[in-house]
Amino acid sequence: QSFFKRYGFSQIILPIIERTELFSRGIGDETDIVQKEMYTFSDKKGRSITLRPEGTAVAVRSYIENGFDKRGVVKKYFYVGPMFRYERPQKGRYRQFYQLGVEVFGVSDPYLDAEVLKMLMEFLEMIGIKETYVSLNNIGCSKCRPDYQKALKTYLGEHKERLCEDCKSRMDKNPLRVLDCKVQTCKEVTANAPLIADYLCDECKEYEEKFLHYLDIMEIPYKKDLKLVRGLDYYTRIVFEVYSDKLGAQSALLGGGRYDGLVEELGGKSTPAFGFAIGIDRIIEVLKESEKKPWLKDKKLYIVWELDDKAPLYKVVDMIRKMGYVVEFSYEKKSMKAQMKYAGKNGYEYVVFLGEREIDGDVIHLKEMETGKEYFISPLELLDFLR
Ligand code: HAM
Repeated sequence: QSFFKRYGFSQIILPIIERTELFSRGIGDETDIVQKEMYTFSDKKGRSITLRPEGTAVAVRSYIENGFDKRGVVKKYFYVGPMFRYERPQKGRYRQFYQLGVEVFGVSDPYLDAEVLKMLMEFLEMIGIKETYVSLNNIGCSKCRPDYQKALKTYLGEHKERLCEDCKSRMDKNPLRVLDCKVQTCKEVTANAPLIADYLCDECKEYEEKFLHYLDIMEIPYKKDLKLVRGLDYYTRIVFEVYSDKLGAQSALLGGGRYDGLVEELGGKSTPAFGFAIGIDRIIEVLKESEKKPWLKDKKLYIVWELDDKAPLYKVVDMIRKMGYVVEFSYEKKSMKAQMKYAGKNGYEYVVFLGEREIDGDVIHLKEMETGKEYFISPLELLDFLR
């Protein structure tokens, strides 16, 4: 949390259930998510409700309902929680999965987009995810995309017989979705399809140039993928995904982009927005593969005690916990040997011995487990040592 706060983000708690219409309008009727993957039910009054398949549309609804769009308020949110998609479960793809999402409302500035990407890369590095790469594209805006869609439709029409049934029916309403289809024959058809890059308007081109310039300044490496369109309809201009060598090219660790039309589409005043969502389950898959477990960075200290009563433990435990250590001990009276054995087996970096002598006196007995070194030091020196 404090990490995202440094960049001006605050947490938003989003509801898990929403009206179905929010997602069908927001994500797009022709997308796989809306057509095949939503958990949709009727409530007691017969209203159609859906378990959220993603958080962006929900965050937009909240932004509008609070009237922030009317006043052009800049909001930077992050959220964490379960999302639900009726997909074929497999490694890294679940029906209930977890996302960490970030959304910025009210800013249309390539600097902001680059900065959010920088924050994201720093975050991945902090949690120990390395060897990732950013794939990005510019998919234009409501001004230039219609011309591209027309050209794409014409091209797809010429190859209609090779498209899958889904694509045949969605190519007229939303030809961009065909570019995202995973069916082999559709992929073969789209390999030679016209590219959006050739249809971008001057504003979109200029926006991208500046964005890439800021990425260079912030030293964020990226690859351009002129075929990347993402699976949700709301994006405009910049879209991106991050992949890990450990997961392979099939599944993205995260994805996001700019969505300048969504607030208006969902009934608010036109407001630019940018965001991304990390798939936490996939992050965990990658971390499982790495030797280092950086999320275990809390230092652990075990208190081995031999006292008539546990009360005097409190002061020492409290003092060390306040320094940010994980401090644990046995609640049951056990032999020193058994306690030591437990500390050795459970990855504690330090052991502090507390007997009547240590409590009465001014000397604390500390053992550093990795080196086996023992120290007899005052409480003040202990604090200095552990700092
Ligand atoms: P998305 O690409 O649909 O984007 O999902 C983002 C990430 O969630 C994916 O890259 C993946 O890591 C993870 N994910 C998606 N589906 C599953 C699944 N079935 N099992 C495990 N992980 C999964 C969005 O949801 C957008 N709302 C992102 C965004 C935020 N765009 C702008 N702001």
